[in-house]
Amino acid sequence: MSKGSILAGVLAPHPPHLVYAENPPQNEPRAECGWEVLRWGYERCRRSVLALDPEVLIVHSPHWKTVQGHHLLGVDHFEGLSVDPIFPHLFRYHYELDVDVELAEAIAEAAHEARLVSKLMRNPDFRVDYGTIAACHLINPAWDIPIVAISSNRAHFDFGNDAGQEEMLRLGEATLRAVESTGRRAVVLASCSLSHRHFTVEPEIPEDMSHEHVYHHGQYLWDMHLLELFRRGKSAQVLDEMSDFIEQATSEAKDGSLTWMLAVLGIPDYPAEVHAYGNVIGTGNAVVEWNPVLHSHEAEES
Ligand SMILES: [Fe+2]
Repeated sequence: MSKGSILAGVLAPHPPHLVYAENPPQNEPRAECGWEVLRWGYERCRRSVLALDPEVLIVHSPHWKTVQGHHLLGVDHFEGLSVDPIFPHLFRYHYELDVDVELAEAIAEAAHEARLVSKLMRNPDFRVDYGTIAACHLINPAWDIPIVAISSNRAHFDFGNDAGQEEMLRLGEATLRAVESTGRRAVVLASCSLSHRHFTVEPEIPEDMSHEHVYHHGQYLWDMHLLELFRRGKSAQVLDEMSDFIEQATSEAKDGSLTWMLAVLGIPDYPAEVHAYGNVIGTGNAVVEWNPVLHSHEAEES
């Protein structure tokens, strides 16, 4: 068996609004339009990532919250109805997905060897969280590639940002080792927003874009700072500043997804491609791709 590899990583935010506005057959509510810049960015990113022909998508989601360690889906097939608890009028999604259980088991084992608590979710009736479903749908709406889904163990919340960072870096390194040892060609998805301060009142028409805007200039400045670091290949500096970003931008990165992904990618020092940035109920969302192939083409052209 040849050694596996990470083909690309994507910052893949999961606002249910983006799925709602796409009107896929799986989602019950219908939209007129909305959040086009982010959705068009997802289209570009999707084309780029799927052209790499990945065998599996590995996603870390803030909305599968586990307290005792890192859990992974551990059944071949899941299906059901996922309803967003905050936006049930936007996201009532009938999902059906396949899991790469062998890889999930390998990641759980590698995490255990790294002295992290890990557990497989073996309940076939388990309801998969919308953070996993929305990110995977937006990257691969055909659902014809198996996934591995990893929970957020909330270490930043329970033990502080420094402990959380350490935990997620170790989980990312363990994930990479498991991908390499199982020979998989994988794409990793960090299912999270950047700044995360949001509106408390929704407009009458959710997709009325005259209401959508930056909520808070300080949070916007943080988002632009991070995107500039991504574009310059400065992931290590992002990790250095992550605790401040989490606190000052009330960032969803506090759930660990972004740190985990940067660790799986080996803390990349090459430029990322920012496909889109936009607000959803005021939160800052970016679709960003780390793709060494894309980068090497850019380097040849320059
Ligand atoms: Fe979220």
